[in-house]
Amino acid sequence: MTDYPDFSKTDTTTAEFSRRAETYQHHNIIQRKVVKHLIAQITSQPSKILDLGCGSGAVYNLIDWKIERFVGIDKADMMCRLHPQSDKIELFHDNFENLSLLQKLGHFDIVISSSALQWANDLESLFQTLHTMTDEIAFAIFCNGTFKTIYEMTQLESFLPSKESLQQLLEKYFDCQCEIKNYTLEFQDNISKFRYIKRSGVSGGKKRLSVQETRSLIRNYPFSYLEFEVLFCFGKPRR
Ligand SMILES: C[S@@+](CC[C@H](N)C(=O)[O-])C[C@H]1O[C@@H](n2cnc3c(N)ncnc32)[C@H](O)[C@@H]1O
Repeated sequence: MTDYPDFSKTDTTTAEFSRRAETYQHHNIIQRKVVKHLIAQITSQPSKILDLGCGSGAVYNLIDWKIERFVGIDKADMMCRLHPQSDKIELFHDNFENLSLLQKLGHFDIVISSSALQWANDLESLFQTLHTMTDEIAFAIFCNGTFKTIYEMTQLESFLPSKESLQQLLEKYFDCQCEIKNYTLEFQDNISKFRYIKRSGVSGGKKRLSVQETRSLIRNYPFSYLEFEVLFCFGKPRR
């Protein structure tokens, strides 16, 4: 059966990440660039770190300074299992929007999240909770310019937040500096582009395009690349 891509957010996202945890390691080219850029901007050498949507450890693996405590939360069991382990690392197989869990974790020097917050259902409540429990934040969040041309062609609506709405919300709780980065990823043909979407874990689980519509999209997609838009935000809580 053909593995058709889909472009919607559904509750099956976690299952999607778990199923794809092994292949995710090899198909997350943009997410790897994103996390590198995010961690490279952190100059404060924070020692107590909370990572929301820690996945298999991309953030942890890039930390090259001494740390005291690293807490990772990820709701995909398989991703957590691939995460490095040590006596300094605490991993929670849970939803990072579980506010009662967050409130029990104590205070952090920094909360980091790379390529994960775009899945949140209620960012406002999350930011409101986070702003009382950390000295700093560093977030990289995919925005609705991701797969822009595909959304324009299909007239589907992206589930991803707009950079403007995100920035506005972030600035309500944090005194922050934001940067937008656009990435493109080249492919040899359209089929591999859509396979990439499927395997990267960026798609949801529910199909919204008919087979015919998908075929037409694959045939007519005009570029040799896929588009990604990411908001980077660094800041301190407003007190
Ligand atoms: C694209 S991956 C990024 C993983 C890692 N931060 C990186 O940069 O490679 C997104 C991760 O967020 C996790 N995730 C998404 N929504 C979540 C939620 N509400 N609670 C916990 N984890 C979540 C997924 O399971 C997945 O492991």
